[in-house]
Amino acid sequence: MKPLELAGIEACVFDAYGTLFDVSSVARGAQAGLGEQWQPLSDLWRSKQLQYTWLRGLNGQYADFWQVTGDALDFAMSTLRLEDRNLRERLMSLYLELSTYPEVPGALRRLKGGGMRLAVLSNGSPGMLASAASNAGIADLFDAILSADEVKVYKPHPSVYQMAPERLGVAAKNICYLSSNGWDAYSAKAFGFQVLWCNRFNHAPENIPATPNAEIRDLSCLPGTITA
Ligand code: LAC
Repeated sequence: MKPLELAGIEACVFDAYGTLFDVSSVARGAQAGLGEQWQPLSDLWRSKQLQYTWLRGLNGQYADFWQVTGDALDFAMSTLRLEDRNLRERLMSLYLELSTYPEVPGALRRLKGGGMRLAVLSNGSPGMLASAASNAGIADLFDAILSADEVKVYKPHPSVYQMAPERLGVAAKNICYLSSNGWDAYSAKAFGFQVLWCNRFNHAPENIPATPNAEIRDLSCLPGTITA
């Protein structure tokens, strides 16, 4: 991976789940009801959720991210033999109150304070994103919170990424896109953004077209590295 070399950045656009918000905080928050099952449930739920977004993109059967997330949870709970309607409802409601990763609010505030324009670009439905951002106290920092629901298809479809240049009025090459999801970071680079892969989980490089400009461990290095 190349060193951090970004030029002409006018806006930073963030993926939401896994990048700003810790999706594992949901199942961890319900640990009392889940015991040791919380981690396998969390992992299976997330991977199924993503698979369903891609499947629905391919078969043209779009449903919003709230439904996809619930469908994936039902699959994960049934795989792990966790038939419990109350637990299901609790897990879904926790999804609206996700924790951010610890460095996120401070890093965003410092970037914003330096004059950078900030946005979220996510598969999440508008209601889910508004709720998570406001609950985490970071909603006011964003110039735009863009949802794939507007184009009725999920990442990595280019029409999702296209919303950022269109809505911010900034050329793709002047946008720094940040995602912890390797497939998303690589696809966003192929689309035309400058990309930082926030590789929180130390995943191996993807073998799909385009390579992000650089890899970072979390968002704490951003202020000072990227200036408007
Ligand atoms: C999102 C998923 C991909 O926020 O993490 O779009």
